[in-house]
Formats: sequence, C-alpha cells, structure tokens
Amino acid sequence: MKKVFVTRKLLKENEQKLEELFEVKLNSNDKIYSAEEIIEGSKDCDGILSSVTDPINAETISKLSQSIKIIANGAVGFGNIDFKIAREKGITVTNTPDVLTDATADIQILLLLGASRKAYEGRLAAETQSWKWSWDFLLGKQMSNKRLGILGMGRIGRAVAKRAKAFGMEIHYHNRSKLSPELEDGAIYHKTLKELFEQSEFLSVNCPATPETTKIINKETLSYLKENTVVGNAARGDVVDDDAMIEALKNGTVFAYGLDVYNGEPKIHPEYLKLKNIFLLPHLGSATKRTRWDMAYRATKNLEQFFSGQKPQDQVN
Ligand code: DGY
Repeated sequence: MKKVFVTRKLLKENEQKLEELFEVKLNSNDKIYSAEEIIEGSKDCDGILSSVTDPINAETISKLSQSIKIIANGAVGFGNIDFKIAREKGITVTNTPDVLTDATADIQILLLLGASRKAYEGRLAAETQSWKWSWDFLLGKQMSNKRLGILGMGRIGRAVAKRAKAFGMEIHYHNRSKLSPELEDGAIYHKTLKELFEQSEFLSVNCPATPETTKIINKETLSYLKENTVVGNAARGDVVDDDAMIEALKNGTVFAYGLDVYNGEPKIHPEYLKLKNIFLLPHLGSATKRTRWDMAYRATKNLEQFFSGQKPQDQVN
C-alpha cells in the first residue's frame, strides 16, 4: 500500500476515503507545518496531499525524500509549489480545477459588491448603532450596468463574467491569448492590460499567481485605471503590490477594494485594516462544505490515478 502524507486536517469523509486507499499520515491537530516539518513528516511516504498553506518551494523540494513521487495540491492554485523544480526531481504535481469555480466566482461577486456598496462601513455603523437613514448616508457605487474588466479569463474569470451579465454588466477581459468566440461569450478582448484597465469601471482579478503575474497590479498599472474603479481580488495576494494599492485607495484611483487573499497570508497589511474603503474576507473563495469535499476528493483521485500507473487528470508539470 502506498503511503501518503496529508499536510492539513481534511473533512472526516475525505480522510476516511484516503484511509481506504492508502496508508496515511494525517494531521489531526491541523497544525500548519513548516517546510522542515513537511520534509521530516513525509520522509517515509510516497506522496503528499498538500494545501494552499504549505510552502513547498525549490529548497523544500530539494530536501524531500527520494521516495516522494507526487504532490497532489488540494487547491486550484499551485503558486505554493515550485512545480518546475518538482518536475526536475521527477515529482508529479497536480491541482484541483473545476470543482471550486462556482464557489470562487460567487465570492468574487461578493467582493465587488461588498466593496462598492460599502458593506464594511455599513456593518460598523450598524453594530455601533451610530447611524440614521439620510439621503447621503454611505453612498456606494452601483455595479449594475457598468463595464467589468476581468484580468485572467480562465474558468473562474468566465464564471464571474456569467454572473456579472445578470447584473447587466458589459464584459471586457485581458488574457495571455484571446479566447474562442464560444468561450468569450460576447466578452470584449483587450490585447494589453493597459487597454483593459483604461476601460474598466469594475475590475475582477482572476489570474493565477506565477512569476509573470507577481505584482502585476502595481503603481504603474494602477495609474491606467479610471478614477474611482472598484477592484476585487479572489485570486492571490501576490499579484498585487499592496503599497501601491493602498496609495490608490487613498488617492481615489480605486474607489474600494474587496479582497479574499493576501501577501504572506494569514498576515494582512496593517494599512488595509485602517482603511474604510475596503472589504476583507479571510480566504473564503472555496469555503463551502461541498466544494472543500470535492477538492479533497479530486486530490485523492489524482493520487489514486498516479499510483495505479495512469497520468493523473490534473497534472500541472
Ligand atoms: C485554491 O484552490 O487555489 C483556493 O484559493 C483554495 O482556497
């Protein structure tokens, strides 16, 4: 029986399924392991079922036991794993696409709405009982019928577009390449990020974290935005230069920012906590029971396929 090191505590049903298939080392306390603990804990194992919180960079991979042949990441994003170095070491890396598309797109809409309609300030006013209805009380920016720019038109970007259309929004996007008319579904392609940013009244950040997208939203690119743009980020903190974003939130380039993901999670840039025109969530994009179950099931499936000699369906390297 193959042996799998599971870095985080999963839902009970998912752990039971893993136990049926493999010898497993579970993390019953759900401690977030350091790189050293992952290396040490997995040294007698054949594979790792990792999570988005695990720092599996080049150095960690170089120190993993030779017996590790697969890292099945229980997330669609795999920016936490140096998948190229893993390949060089003969380790297969997989992710969990599709199953969290809807949950994450739902949260993206919540971020855009929460930010544009001042949900944070509203909550503060309600809980401190320091409000009264008035004609100009907490006036937000209406999302319906606006132009939405989508940065990264993959599965999640397209699912956001579908939802935004129900708000009467006109969809624009920038992607590495133009999509087929079928996938575009009426959205307007912009060859450059600059063109997209110049057009957007609302901006949905949905690109993966890669070396190319690190801090792609920075002082220069934020200067392409119109005054008072609303930005939502359910992708990764790494794609935003926080200092530049904070400046844009203060000078009015960005009307409000809704974010679910952070640089160096779970830490949050202290300035974000001081600003009012912000709507923060603690990485809840995939946080529904059904979705989390599906993600762990899919990671398990990848392990099962790999250990039975097949190419796992979600291999990324
Ligand atoms: C993912 O799958 O990448 C999500 O961010 C996990 O919550």
